[in-house]
Amino acid sequence: MNSGARWVAVILAAGQGTRMRSSLPKVAHPLAGLPVLAHVVAAARAAGVDDCVIVVGEGAAADVVRAAAGAGARFAVQAEPRGTGHAVECARDAAGNATHVLIMNGDVPLVLPSTLRRLMRAIASDDAPDFALLTACVPVEEYGILELDGDRITSIMETKAVEGIDRGESRYINSGQYAVRAPWLWSRLERIAPSPGGERYLTLLASVAAGEGNAGVAVIADDPAEVRGINDRVQLAEAEATIRDRIRRRHMLNGVTIVDPPSTFIDAGVEIGADTTLGPQTHLEGATVIGEGCTIGPGASVRDARIGPGCVVRYSMVEESTLEDGVDVGPYSHVRPKSHLCAGVHLGNYAETKASRLGPRTKMGHFSYIGDAEVGADVNIGAGTITANYDGERKHRTTIGDGAFIGSDTMLVAPVNIGAGARTAAGSVVNKDVPAGMLAVGAPARIRALRPAGDEAYDDR
Ligand code: UD1
Ligand code: CA
Repeated sequence: MNSGARWVAVILAAGQGTRMRSSLPKVAHPLAGLPVLAHVVAAARAAGVDDCVIVVGEGAAADVVRAAAGAGARFAVQAEPRGTGHAVECARDAAGNATHVLIMNGDVPLVLPSTLRRLMRAIASDDAPDFALLTACVPVEEYGILELDGDRITSIMETKAVEGIDRGESRYINSGQYAVRAPWLWSRLERIAPSPGGERYLTLLASVAAGEGNAGVAVIADDPAEVRGINDRVQLAEAEATIRDRIRRRHMLNGVTIVDPPSTFIDAGVEIGADTTLGPQTHLEGATVIGEGCTIGPGASVRDARIGPGCVVRYSMVEESTLEDGVDVGPYSHVRPKSHLCAGVHLGNYAETKASRLGPRTKMGHFSYIGDAEVGADVNIGAGTITANYDGERKHRTTIGDGAFIGSDTMLVAPVNIGAGARTAAGSVVNKDVPAGMLAVGAPARIRALRPAGDEAYDDR
């Protein structure tokens, strides 16, 4: 913004949000995987404000709101929710030497940074009004309604305070996003009288400015969704639909194919490389990062995972794990937290991994469980292999060396180490270490030398 200006966003989040009927504060409810409030803070930052102050209440609920704001925010406390005007006043000290204040309702999360910049520019020049307010023409519901004279606001009427308003009628409403010159704001806030209920409404600033002969200016949002507030769970679901749609469009324009957008859910923080295809019924959550040229879905659920280029995940779940390049998973497999699948690993049907590293090109094709294990490169894990990693009290580790061959239906009773190039026979129960290049047979397994190639070896196919 203009040189010398110092913009501080004051975000109001101290209200109770009773219409949500929730023990969770309204602005902490998740929207596309992030709290409602985090979307508002992100929009303010992207609009280019110099600082953000969030007005919160006191007590346990306020701590939840503070956490919802994310890292780097500053807070001002409004001990009792005595109205939006009072809430802004509570941020006065924290706003410090701001020259301009961007006031935002913490429950209006769909506003775009470009729109906020337009709002800020509306009061940037010397001859501009002292405040600007974002509006759109939408059904009035419970919003405040602007009384307009051209693009100037003569007053704001609270729908809730007036009888006989048709709430389905479309009018220019108060979005709760204002750009205000700081000296004017602080001096005029003091003049706002409390309502009969003892609340001090920020909206009264409109008639104060009009009375001074310098009415505030209305700025119209490009997209009416930008002004939508969230007061109940119906509005929360509507906002969710809008934001999900925006996220999908952004990825599609960045080169991601989404076969069936309505059944594809992508959280706000997810990154996806170009030429990746997302199949139907795919959920990408949290801080997931997906590389280029992957096929994810149909039926994939991926949370907080890093997936390298060229991976395939079909009808499977991946959580808090890393897949290097060219890994394929599924159908019907579960990659549980702290799994690391190196390049070229193949997980087929009904494979489960947990807290395990599988080396490059290792294969685990059919109904197996590998937990708390370190598996080398080029290992073949036969159908039905299980790491028995839990003895009822503690978890134990399994290690399997490069090139080992684990026969079908092997029980690896941890702690146990299988050496490089070793083999286990089908159905063996391995409860002691198998040295490199040796064979384990039977239940419990005995250790033998592998017979030379061409000789009749123990058949574990
Ligand atoms: C408010 C506006 C209304 C506008 C609507 C837009 C007023 C009086 N009304 O109504 O004109 O159309 O927002 O969404 O301003 N808050 C506090 N402290 C308080 C009261 C509220 O921090 O004492 C916060 C709330 O947490 C919320 C925001 O201010 O984030 C708005 O409060 P809310 O009670 O939702 O106001 P609305 O009835 O929606
Ligand atoms: Ca509201």
